[in-house]
Amino acid sequence: MDILGIETSCDETAAAVVRDGREVLSNVVYTQIPLHRPYGGVVPEIASRAHVEKITQVVSSALEGRRVDAVAATYGPGLSPALLVGYNAAKGLAASLGVPLFAVNHMEGHIHTPFLDTALDPAEFMPALALAVSGGHTTWMDMPSYGKYIVVGQTLDDAAGEAFDKAAKLLALGYPGGPVVDRMAAEWFKSGGGEMIAFPRGRVREGVSALAGLDAGMCVSFSGLKTSLLRYVQKEGGAEALAARGEIGRVVASYQEAIVDAVAETTARALAARRRRALLVGGGVSLNSRLRERLKRVADAAGVPLLLAKPKYCGDNGAMIAGLAYFRRTAEGDSAMKLDISPSAAIGANMV
Ligand code: KG4
Ligand code: ZN
Repeated sequence: MDILGIETSCDETAAAVVRDGREVLSNVVYTQIPLHRPYGGVVPEIASRAHVEKITQVVSSALEGRRVDAVAATYGPGLSPALLVGYNAAKGLAASLGVPLFAVNHMEGHIHTPFLDTALDPAEFMPALALAVSGGHTTWMDMPSYGKYIVVGQTLDDAAGEAFDKAAKLLALGYPGGPVVDRMAAEWFKSGGGEMIAFPRGRVREGVSALAGLDAGMCVSFSGLKTSLLRYVQKEGGAEALAARGEIGRVVASYQEAIVDAVAETTARALAARRRRALLVGGGVSLNSRLRERLKRVADAAGVPLLLAKPKYCGDNGAMIAGLAYFRRTAEGDSAMKLDISPSAAIGANMV
């Protein structure tokens, strides 16, 4: 079964055709990053306009004249003017092709990426612990079976990717922050490293109301980390002064370490709490080289395989949407035709 997947939840206009949920036949991603860079973050109006301009071209290059058996699109979570473009295009396309439409949750799509371009059977890795770590989310989920998600932990404020982006902005390193912090930290380690700055590790106290029933040991908070960086930079005379003294590498490596520690240790606690057969990780921040290393160690210590996506599937793409739709599809896609986008769609809601 060939499914066309369309993804426009944020700043990538993406479409892909995936066979039987894993074999990626085409994968086209138009990134708007250069358009948003001057603003240091995604501007919803600019994103929306760029999606409108590119969607037809991106979808037709993904289709390459192929017939597909279904269309799937991200209905949430994401920016509403961005989601609208892809989801409405998918509705129109499904109607004109006379094929079913499936609505896919963006975060669930990220969790499917380790299976793309593989022949692995997701069911064989269940129950699993899944971690979605991106610019908008840092969420740990139990997957009792494939396509079922129970949130067991999350960030109470900023997502890990957001924490990287905010640090880069503060240090005038450009947008998005994750890749540049990753690269500069790696260079600093490679050139011998040194003593790290002790930034807070994002631990959450028991009894905080934002936990909403989740275990404090399974949640993280990155807002204090960002404040701590700001204070450090001010104390040291500002970002320019730090750069002039060649200190930026040490600062970003230490900051990255605080995020990686928080995510890795929370993952280790989750794996220690219950027996699982795999650790699945998806999302833009899963590209981080230090995080990949640490999660490998965590998975090895827990005796479970770590399933990470290929780098080209870590950021937003249509293949993750088409791929997951195959595994989560219901007999009819009709209800997705009547569904609206949902900017704050919850993980684990029913597939329609
Ligand atoms: O999954 P994604 O493309 O979009 C969302 O759904 O949010 O993730 C984008 C995020 C950005 O915050 C970006 O800075 C971060 O992923 N990111 C990284 C790296 N590459 C991208 N963070 C840390 N290290 C990286 N190498
Ligand atoms: Zn994403």
